[in-house]
Amino acid sequence: MDKNSNIKFIEQLIKNISIFKNLSTAHIARVIESFSFEKVRKGDVIFNQSDKSTDFYIVVAGNVRAVLHNEEGHELVLAIFGAGEFFGEMSLLDGNLRSAAIVASEDSVVAVLKRSDFLELIHKYPMIAVDMLSALVQRLRMTDDMLGSIAFLDVSHRTLRLFQQIAKSGCEVDKKTGFYKIGKITQKEIAARTGASREGVAKAMRILAFKGVLREDDGFFFISPEAENL
Ligand code: CMP
Repeated sequence: MDKNSNIKFIEQLIKNISIFKNLSTAHIARVIESFSFEKVRKGDVIFNQSDKSTDFYIVVAGNVRAVLHNEEGHELVLAIFGAGEFFGEMSLLDGNLRSAAIVASEDSVVAVLKRSDFLELIHKYPMIAVDMLSALVQRLRMTDDMLGSIAFLDVSHRTLRLFQQIAKSGCEVDKKTGFYKIGKITQKEIAARTGASREGVAKAMRILAFKGVLREDDGFFFISPEAENL
């Protein structure tokens, strides 16, 4: 991609981000001037939990995750951010330490904006703050949902729910059985995304297989569409 099509691509990406949706093309061009861009490799830590930094980030390409680690190094995934999603807003807004670590789930590119530049933007375009509140409320809702499932659902239901979420975000359907076909996901990853132990997930998957709602075949998982009524 040449420099011009790169800029066009980033302009389009910024335009589609909820908090910048009210900005004109001229304003967006000015915002982009304040960004710096960083390439990260899969597994790189963009920043750690409790780091003292306040930059704001937007994922330009790839995928990153917000995680908490316990003392043994086990991960709990709080959120996954793909292209066009932002992170780092909490320390930016309250000036406190980072609430979670951000780890690249694949090779990615992020745009970085200094806190002072972002605050200046909010002063110029207060609608950014209003739209950011709405984005924060959405995140709070998703966190409530996760908290509720960790408190009230057993590991097999949490695992099933995760598979259903992945299926709903777009996957093939096996023509013969009607089962959703989901790409390989490791037990460690499922554990990190359901707040369970790897052993708990292994057991949950045996239970789901026994009930006939989950099949593993040739590197893929197949989930029954009737699993909703389990
Ligand atoms: P910050 O605390 O600056 O750095 C870690 C980032 O992870 C945080 O900003 C948010 O962008 C993101 N984050 C932390 N907790 C959650 C959550 N519960 N839901 C979604 N994103 C979160």
